[in-house]
Amino acid sequence: MKRVAVLISGRGSNLGSLIEAAGGSYKIILVISNVEGVAGLDRAQAANIPTQVIPHGGKTRESFDGEIDAALRAANAEIVVLAGFMRILSDGFVRGWEGKLINIHPSLLPAYKGTRVHERVIEAKEALSGASVHFVVPELDAGPVIAQASVPVYPADSPQILADRVLDVEHKLYPEALRLLADGKVKLQNGLAVFT
Ligand code: GRF
Repeated sequence: MKRVAVLISGRGSNLGSLIEAAGGSYKIILVISNVEGVAGLDRAQAANIPTQVIPHGGKTRESFDGEIDAALRAANAEIVVLAGFMRILSDGFVRGWEGKLINIHPSLLPAYKGTRVHERVIEAKEALSGASVHFVVPELDAGPVIAQASVPVYPADSPQILADRVLDVEHKLYPEALRLLADGKVKLQNGLAVFT
């Protein structure tokens, strides 16, 4: 079983689905939040998973990332999962975890990188949106995609309604993608996600 650490900043609903699906290919050995008192920390504690709060305030990006890296190494993490983690990680950190660091983004990447995704999808009158799990590379939301799921976008959708519809598929998609990585069925090779 691969040792997985999850980085969060908030409510942790994806963390919750990863906790529920754990057991076969992976176990969650640590949850780190950069924000204290968030619901995701309660979810981890309810599942008896060790938690750590590492605030980012007043630190350089490199020193904050260095603290996270040290905590991950001390816990012998083998895979690092970003689940609603709202900080951009430095190139050095990303390179140090290359091929072992994944994120979920609420769009069909490479479309709609960045923030205000659902607002922009609705403004553009897209018929389809969705979620993507990808390897993290230094460029934001640009890493090779491991798995995607799509949802329809309806004319009457508000950003919140669309976000909820996307979130539903995220909860199924993220554990599936993590399992592929933990089982060695997908690897990052020469900048591509390679499936075996
Ligand atoms: C999700 O929509 C995810 O795609 C994005 O941040 C949100 C996190 O939600 N990266 P939660 O904290 O997992 O509930």
